[in-house]
Amino acid sequence: MTDARIRPMRAEDVVEVERLSSEAFYEVDKRLARRDGPDPEPRSAERGAQWVTRTQHYLSTDPGGCWVAEVDADLVGFATSFTRELMWVLASYAVRPGLQGHGIGRALLAAAMQHGRGCLRGMLSASADPRAVRRYRSAGFSLHPQMHLSGTLDRSAIPVVEKVREGSAGDFELMDSIDRRLRGAAHGPDHAWLLSEFRLVVSDTSTGSGYAFHASDGTPVLLAATNRRTATRLLWECLAATSGQAFVPHITAANEWAVDVGLAARLDLAQGGFLALRSMRPPAPYLHHGSLL
Ligand SMILES: CC(C)(COP(=O)(O)OP(=O)(O)OC[C@H]1O[C@@H](n2cnc3c(N)ncnc32)[C@H](O)[C@@H]1OP(=O)(O)O)[C@@H](O)C(=O)NCCC(=O)NCCS
Repeated sequence: MTDARIRPMRAEDVVEVERLSSEAFYEVDKRLARRDGPDPEPRSAERGAQWVTRTQHYLSTDPGGCWVAEVDADLVGFATSFTRELMWVLASYAVRPGLQGHGIGRALLAAAMQHGRGCLRGMLSASADPRAVRRYRSAGFSLHPQMHLSGTLDRSAIPVVEKVREGSAGDFELMDSIDRRLRGAAHGPDHAWLLSEFRLVVSDTSTGSGYAFHASDGTPVLLAATNRRTATRLLWECLAATSGQAFVPHITAANEWAVDVGLAARLDLAQGGFLALRSMRPPAPYLHHGSLL
């Protein structure tokens, strides 16, 4: 293994960690891009800034879950993770291109997993990088393929969406109870971070409850509901905010209701990456967040 020092991440590392992650993920996207697919693009400044605030959020709630690797005082890798109730989540993880495949990732993942040693369950969303997939399977995670929907939305397919309202911090208790039922752990402080960045919509009727956060372009970033009918309603509400191209990421085979909404909206289905889970089944009806899961 390359001689790397693993140490706790500090607040002053976060901007450099973001640059490293942007470089590492862009390199993977280029390496794995389909010849007939669109050219991968580097992370935008806006998404980079959001990445920084999210990582500051993990560092503030779970300083013991966030680690960096250094070689000769140069930052060469990192892993950010946190625990929510009895769930351990790996939020993000990368090693500088050129230094990958020499054991630095293994040491970083071991440090992050140590933070979750008291947890029953684990979740992470894996890239399709074969090195990452290899690490996660050898760490005992089950790998569930992820699908995504994309394309130009057929707006004439959008139904009239009823029983959905704007959400607020006053809904967090309800949302935490939905999370516990679906994935065995509340999101707790993550809901406040999500609300600072995204629109929250809630459906709460006598037959079912659910919520969704979506980006300004309509992309659902986290959706959870107690039944498929409520989840379907919430996904349509997200898609109605789409103006140009629609995108629905992070769909597992357990969530065919989301595939059905996308196909009804004339979107294209494709696959990439894995939902990696330990001691749990893929949550449903649920569209996980890529790093808050
Ligand atoms: C995933 C990542 C963090 C792992 O770090 P790393 O330092 O490369 O990891 P390690 O060297 O400890 O382990 C890599 C494993 O893949 C193997 N490997 C190396 N090169 C490989 C290749 N080209 N194809 C497949 N496997 C490969 C290694 O032998 C090792 O497996 P082993 O320990 O069973 O022998 C790093 O590769 C990376 O940054 N990838 C790009 C970003 C990414 O996808 N991050 C994960 C997000 S979910």
